[in-house]
Amino acid sequence: MSDVVLITGADGVVGRLMRARLAREGRLLRLLDVVRPEDPAEGEAVEVIEASVTDEAAMRAACEGVAAIIHLGGISVEGPWADILSANIDGTRVVMEAARDAGVARVVLASSNHAAGFYDLDDVPDVGLAADAFPRPDTYYGVSKVAMEALGSLFHDRYGIDVTALRIGSCFEKPWDRRSLWTWMSPDDGARLLEACLATPEPGFRVVWGISRNTRRWWSLEAGEAIGYHPQDDSEIFAAELLGEAIDDGPQGPEERLAGGKFCFTPLGEHQQK
Ligand SMILES: NC(=O)c1ccc[n+]([C@@H]2O[C@H](COP(=O)([O-])OP(=O)(O)OC[C@H]3O[C@@H](n4cnc5c(N)ncnc54)[C@H](O)[C@@H]3O)[C@@H](O)[C@H]2O)c1
Repeated sequence: MSDVVLITGADGVVGRLMRARLAREGRLLRLLDVVRPEDPAEGEAVEVIEASVTDEAAMRAACEGVAAIIHLGGISVEGPWADILSANIDGTRVVMEAARDAGVARVVLASSNHAAGFYDLDDVPDVGLAADAFPRPDTYYGVSKVAMEALGSLFHDRYGIDVTALRIGSCFEKPWDRRSLWTWMSPDDGARLLEACLATPEPGFRVVWGISRNTRRWWSLEAGEAIGYHPQDDSEIFAAELLGEAIDDGPQGPEERLAGGKFCFTPLGEHQQK
């Protein structure tokens, strides 16, 4: 019998990057999104479900027989409060309740650096900013990630579900500017991190940074290493191409010094482009 791993928001950037990387012998990926994920290719151990994480009946059905959930679904940038509240906060509540009712033992939550966006590089100790640093959200989106972490903690303490919340930096194919050189998590490291979350014995409730072993990082890898996440990529290989002669310049202004970057200055509640 296969282990079933349910991935919500599977049609998004991270979900698409992880689909092939998380394929394993003996594992079935159940991919759920409001936008129907691509049908399985020949021989691919994948099921697709078109549904919202806010739909209680659909989530209950999706959780049947599931060993672990990777919850990525929701709004991934700043947006109107009502939309964020529904998709991200209520959606996570529905996911956690469905997990509890179906007896799902383990949940990985896609939190974000924007739960801690107002930490300033200049205030951080040499060992780096701890993954569970007290929240300093930079947007309503960031608030929803703080609420997500709180829901994970609640469902761990009440019902014993193992929950790891990932404060993801920037999980894309490549970094694209100076800030993303320290926030980047390569897709391969993203898969390593998710595998560590799925495999580590008795994680309890934890918060972990989702970044690569970037030379320029200032977020601590310690909490990740404690669950067996040993990132192997370093964004520095892109630095010369991205920064040219400015390669050794320090951060240029607050957008490059604050953990949340430009999100710290985005008008609250306005639709934001990804
Ligand atoms: N990519 C990153 O660097 C990054 C950084 C920090 C946090 N995150 C978090 O990781 C997760 C995935 O990020 P992403 O970059 O793939 O975002 P994305 O916007 O590309 O994907 C999100 C997916 O969720 C789906 N979705 C939206 N509302 C939904 C709902 N109600 N029910 C089910 N699915 C819904 C969307 O259709 C989309 O496919 C998000 O929760 C995001 O907040 C991502």
